Amino acid sequence: MTAPKAEKSTEGAVKLACRNVWKLFGIHPKQFLAEHGYQPTYEEICGAGLIGATRDVSLDIYEGEIFVIMGLSGSGKSTLVRNMSRLIEPTAGEILFDGMDLLKADEKTLIRIRRKKMGMVFQNFGLLPHRNVLDNVAFPLEVQGVARFVREEEAELMIELVGLKGRENYFPRELSGGEQQRVGIARSLAVEPEVWFLDEPFSALDPLIRAEMQDEFLRLQKVLHKTIVFITHDFDEAIRLADRIAIMKDGEIIQVGTPEELVLQPADSYVSEFTQKVPRAKVVSAATLMTPVDGSSKGVPSGKPVTGDTKIEALLCRFLDQRTPIPVTDGTDRIVGEITMQDALRVLLGEEVSLNECQ
Ligand SMILES: Nc1ncnc2c1ncn2[C@@H]1O[C@H](COP(=O)(O)OP(=O)(O)OP(=O)(O)O)[C@@H](O)[C@H]1O
Ligand SMILES: [Mg+2]
Repeated sequence: MTAPKAEKSTEGAVKLACRNVWKLFGIHPKQFLAEHGYQPTYEEICGAGLIGATRDVSLDIYEGEIFVIMGLSGSGKSTLVRNMSRLIEPTAGEILFDGMDLLKADEKTLIRIRRKKMGMVFQNFGLLPHRNVLDNVAFPLEVQGVARFVREEEAELMIELVGLKGRENYFPRELSGGEQQRVGIARSLAVEPEVWFLDEPFSALDPLIRAEMQDEFLRLQKVLHKTIVFITHDFDEAIRLADRIAIMKDGEIIQVGTPEELVLQPADSYVSEFTQKVPRAKVVSAATLMTPVDGSSKGVPSGKPVTGDTKIEALLCRFLDQRTPIPVTDGTDRIVGEITMQDALRVLLGEEVSLNECQ
């Protein structure tokens, strides 16, 4: 019996990919890499007085997914994302955007892709202090040479989308941190990017505003369906937002997986450090915990079913009113398993859970 796959958006086309990407800071990094057969160890890099900010990174980012990059300060998150948009020049490797290697693209193509297909939001908001909200949001379109009337109309739409209608004439200093970041978000969306990069966009905000902005961000994504690369060093934020998470350490990707995979199967102690305090009921899904049933037999559980990606936390609410097992579907109408209240309680009590092999 095949367990249902969680309904993730990781099955679409690859939108953006890194192939053996390196970024070494220091003197003659290209020569150093070539001399070491493009496989220098961390010790060799440090020994040569270089900084291995991105080390041999290969990954695929799928169309429409929220891909979160996590890691401690200095682990290379921002550098990796700057490589992806070619804001910095990788030392070696390939960055594939819709299959086209950005490192081989000429300057004109690159500028066009960056201006029209990529949007960026930064931790410190990066707003222009002497421009009001409307002009800040319209700025990327102004750079593109879009006529004033058109760009202002587009900016108005984005300002409304992020909930700032009526504040068009305010200056950044007249806005709270959360509101300023909404302007940053509206500005990055004004060009209708295909790939949206956000580098710790909510880190400077206090916890309540931060949670509000995360909700807002998820609401926007439901409408916009962008391909998103989101950096954070907060694992709670990561599991809330991510389809998949990449964990970085010393310039390297240690593990890529769904929040559930990282929590239940951490690749090493560095990953488990991040995942230790995560409430399992928030990440473990019905598909992992269910007992498979044969849909054709008469033993199929009755009642309103849940999909395989439903988290245990949500199921527990159901068990307040219902004691019988809850059917689990594979995303269609087919019932593929059942989950009992005891199964769900075991997760709460911290019992060992392993990922369903078939997932
Ligand atoms: N222009 C540069 N020149 C030299 N070293 C750099 C440069 N930019 C980044 N680094 C180094 O590369 C490493 C990775 O930096 P990066 O900014 O990518 O980390 P980060 O994971 O984004 O950290 P943070 O969470 O603090 O933002 C660090 O050791 C940093 O000091
Ligand atoms: Mg950074």
